[in-house]
Amino acid sequence: MKPELGVCYYPEHWPEEMWAEDAARMVEIGLTWVRIGEFAWNRMEPSPGDLQFDWLDRAIEVLGTAGLKVVLGTPTATPPRWMLDKHPAMLAVDAQGQPRKFGSRRHYCFSHQGYIAECERIARIMGDRYGHNPHIAAWQIDNEYGCHETTVSYSQPALQAFRRWLADQYGSVEVLNAAWGNVFWAMEYDSFDQIDLPNLTVTEPNPAHVLAFRRFSSDQVAVFNKVQVDVLRPLTDAPLLHNYMGRILDFDHFKVGEDLDIATLDSYPIGFLSDRLEADEAHKTAFLQQGDPDMQAFHHDLYRAVGRGRWWVMEQQPGPVNWAPYNPAPLPGMVRLWSLEAVAHGAEVVSYFRWRQAPFGQEQMHAGLLTPNNAPAPALAEARQTAGDLAGLGAVTQTQADVAILFDYASDWAWTTQPQGAGFNYFRLVFSAYRALRRAGFSVDILSASQTPETGYKLILAPGLATLDDKAEQHLSDLTLYGPRSGAITRDFQIPKTRPGLTELNCEVELVETLPPNIRREVVGGGAAQHWIDHLSGNAPDLLSYANGASALKGENGIWYLSGFPDEVLWDRVISMAAQEVGLTLHPLPAGLRRRETEQHVFLINYTSAPVSWNGHEIDACDVLILKKDAPEEG
Ligand code: GAL
Repeated sequence: MKPELGVCYYPEHWPEEMWAEDAARMVEIGLTWVRIGEFAWNRMEPSPGDLQFDWLDRAIEVLGTAGLKVVLGTPTATPPRWMLDKHPAMLAVDAQGQPRKFGSRRHYCFSHQGYIAECERIARIMGDRYGHNPHIAAWQIDNEYGCHETTVSYSQPALQAFRRWLADQYGSVEVLNAAWGNVFWAMEYDSFDQIDLPNLTVTEPNPAHVLAFRRFSSDQVAVFNKVQVDVLRPLTDAPLLHNYMGRILDFDHFKVGEDLDIATLDSYPIGFLSDRLEADEAHKTAFLQQGDPDMQAFHHDLYRAVGRGRWWVMEQQPGPVNWAPYNPAPLPGMVRLWSLEAVAHGAEVVSYFRWRQAPFGQEQMHAGLLTPNNAPAPALAEARQTAGDLAGLGAVTQTQADVAILFDYASDWAWTTQPQGAGFNYFRLVFSAYRALRRAGFSVDILSASQTPETGYKLILAPGLATLDDKAEQHLSDLTLYGPRSGAITRDFQIPKTRPGLTELNCEVELVETLPPNIRREVVGGGAAQHWIDHLSGNAPDLLSYANGASALKGENGIWYLSGFPDEVLWDRVISMAAQEVGLTLHPLPAGLRRRETEQHVFLINYTSAPVSWNGHEIDACDVLILKKDAPEEG
């Protein structure tokens, strides 16, 4: 696969006279893809039934004849204002019972049948019109499901759909009562119609009720997406995709991804560092203008899995964004670095958001490749340079990694439902494991915990995986590392009698305690656990112990269980012990340098603002060194 570059473009924002020049300029800097259409419903249908596609026909023609492949978005993330007059109950409702108003975007409830029918209608109109247009080379459905906290809605349509979903899942209300433990606090129901949504309760609702609602809400996203997939499939041979936003966990991306051909990520490294990552001030300062060295890679590996091998970056940050608390500019070189890093992780296309900065609207302070006045912004030259790099790179092929992490959206829903300790956060735990693997120089695969497991891994990590099912009994790898808090609940949020997968390990979790962030349980030999401590008992050998003699890590028969949430030092020790156990070689890396192997190359990616030497190589600040595999890795 030869990676390519693209850009997001909004022809409806600019006079038509500019389109041809824009298209020619895109081609001239080396872009081959352009995404359009995803927010333009009001221009496609200014009033109900008044279809105005001539302008879009012309835009596609101009872009296509210039030599660009077009990704056409269905516009369902921005229903026009008239839609609300037609469907007043289509708005999502927040946990306080307030409808979320018109005036931005994503103002719809995933359970509203009338709105779903409108989406089906517009997708069909577009599919009929453009399904065989030679310039349309891919379709994007909607835009960033779940962004702006839009997965969960406490609306009447959601309530009705939830009751039907429960009846479907449980069959009878007696079964549901038993599964949820509704005898507790006299919460037993006589019929599904009595069951409400789990908001506005006096104190916390039953966690089983909340988790069921979270599963339901996630399923609604997949159902919503599938409606448009089913419309478009017979009308086009072009691949269907969706653009997911970073660290959005409220719906199961793997499930949505099953119906699509390609997964795509919207990658905003500096926005993510400032807005959606737990890190200390020193780290945030060191990487202020580069982004966290593992956050993008984690998402790249995640979406490679969601797309079953096929994934893109649909929106790549090109300069300051508008939506984080602070919005610094990327250091010179970073836009190119992020692009090449995505390619190293298997991106087929990296597409910049956006072509030209808009002088109006909510995102007028968001950089593009061009300024609002059409002058080159700093990222334009880096996009051009990246196009040159890619031309010289040739094919990039992914290979299965030796180590993998099991990732599971439902575990995040479970642990946000009942954190038990304020410091326990599923993403944070999994990401800390990922970082440790990357500090050790490993390429990592991320696997869905709920899909058929792949084999051939030497080491698999399953930290915090809420529910272990029978699949966990199969030996997926030479060594599987569980804990903390793995297998701690059933699907219905009860404490299980046994933890499948752990049965061959003679180890029980006897008691759980959680700790405030300033408390550390030191481990003999270095490192500590924080936030969460599983007290372990049983005859399995202790591989690590706490200073008080309690077991910190137990292991036998290819299964290890880690008792606490490790700090960096402890993770590094555990990863190094595990690697030794299964015969893997570590490539320990200096801070901010990362390494990614493909079939043909080793990419050395320097996220720091100073040159780094490693293994005889010098990697400049904010630069990527690409080594051919047929040459020795040591310089
Ligand atoms: C994404 C979104 C784009 C744009 C961008 C700004 O989340 O898909 O439409 O809003 O962020 O960074």
